[in-house]
Amino acid sequence: MKGIIFNLVEEVVTDSYGPDTWDELLDEAGLEGAYTSLGSYPDDDLHGLVRAASSQLDVPPDAVIRTIGEQALPRLATRYPGFFDGHDCRSFLLTLNDIIHPEVRKLYPGADVPDFAYEDGAPGELFIHYRSARQLCALAEGFILGAAAHFGETVAVDQTSCMHRGDRDCVLRVRFLAVRP
Ligand code: HEM
Repeated sequence: MKGIIFNLVEEVVTDSYGPDTWDELLDEAGLEGAYTSLGSYPDDDLHGLVRAASSQLDVPPDAVIRTIGEQALPRLATRYPGFFDGHDCRSFLLTLNDIIHPEVRKLYPGADVPDFAYEDGAPGELFIHYRSARQLCALAEGFILGAAAHFGETVAVDQTSCMHRGDRDCVLRVRFLAVRP
């Protein structure tokens, strides 16, 4: 996993709970924590940090990952405004597979990004198929919630199938509920 993801996790934890909490999580996970954005680090580091946060906060690991994604996405919007300009939440999500993540591969050599496919649902609904050996569908859910917040919209996200429930892939159903006036 690229260091930028760890940088975002550190920012989210530090902004909400302070730098001491970040140090405590690193200690508990047995990690040093000197992550540089372009570096590559074991996925296990992320899982260790999530486990530590999960036990400290007494919330399930998936919920920790979702919250990280939700709070990290607006930070990506600050770093990479060009990916967001001129979009609403739906049109932004539709650029993920063909524009954003391919660009991410150039910006972060060695990045191993997930694969998404799209399917229209009922009006106001978009199905996003997520495929990745990392099985970080909760992170994808959080990123989508964070994107909605960035665009001043409200969405509901659930999964009609999920690798964690034994399905072949994860299908995230995004329902676009409201736009902030
Ligand atoms: C709603 C929008 C987005 C979704 C749903 C999404 C989803 C994900 C997920 C789930 C991963 C974890 C890796 C995996 O599952 O295999 C990931 C990785 C990553 N994404 Fe995105 N992403 C979004 C937008 C962005 C944007 C705007 C950027 C901006 C630069 C970005 C940059 C990255 C990077 C750097 C990684 C790490 C890849 C690696 O470590 O190899 N993503 N993304």
